Amino acid sequence: MKLSIKEFDAMQMGWRKWYIEKVELKTFKKFGLVIKDADILEVGCGNGYAASLITVEGPHSYTGLDIMPEQLEIARGRKLSNAAFVEGSADDLSGFSDKSFDVVLDFCILHHVEGWRTFFDACRRVLKDDGSIYIADLSKRCIHMVDAVLHWGHAEEALFTLHEFETEANKRGFSTVHKASDLGLEGYFRFQKIH
Ligand SMILES: C[S@@+](CC[C@H](N)C(=O)[O-])C[C@H]1O[C@@H](n2cnc3c(N)ncnc32)[C@H](O)[C@@H]1O
Repeated sequence: MKLSIKEFDAMQMGWRKWYIEKVELKTFKKFGLVIKDADILEVGCGNGYAASLITVEGPHSYTGLDIMPEQLEIARGRKLSNAAFVEGSADDLSGFSDKSFDVVLDFCILHHVEGWRTFFDACRRVLKDDGSIYIADLSKRCIHMVDAVLHWGHAEEALFTLHEFETEANKRGFSTVHKASDLGLEGYFRFQKIH
C-alpha cells in the first residue's frame, strides 16, 4: 500500500535514519547479519537510506524493492554504484530467480502489505538454502497507537500481532533463530529457511 503524504514525509526525516542505523540495522547485526559478499534483497527499501549503509559494506549484490515510484526516485538519486532499485510488491517476488538471495531485509514495511503471509512463501523460493529474513516491524498495537495520534491511516487488513507474525513464518517454513521486541510494539526477528 502506498504511504499517506504524512507518513511519506516522516520517512524522509532524520529520526528515521537514526533509528534504521542505530537500532534496526544494529539489531540485525547482533542477530548475525553478514553483509560482505552476500546477495541482499531489501523489501520496501523506501528512499534508499538503508541501502546507503548496506552497500558500503561490500555485498555481492544489493536489490531494493518498493511499490512507490516516489520513494524509488529518491533512492535512485543517491547514485549508489552497486545497488539496483526495482518497483514491485513484497508479496510478489516473481521477478526474481529461485535461490538468488542470501538475505531478505524488512525495515518496517510489512505492516503495509496485506499479503504479508504470502511474503514468507515468496521468500522461501528466492532465498538460498540456509538463507535468512531479518525483520524489524511494527505490531498492530503499535500502529493503532501511532494512528490514534498521527492519523497516518494504515489499512487494518495488513496489521498483525508479533505472535501471529512469528506463527505464520514458522508455519510457512522458517525457524526463529532470534527474536526481540520493544514492549511488544516493534518486533525484531531473524527467520531461517528450513530445508
Ligand atoms: C514505513 S515506510 C519504510 C521505508 C523504509 N524501509 C524506511 O525504513 O525508511 C514503508 C515502505 O514500504 C513501501 N511499501 C508499501 N507497501 C509495499 C509493498 N506491498 N511492497 C513493497 N513496498 C511496499 C512504501 O512505499 C514505503 O517505502
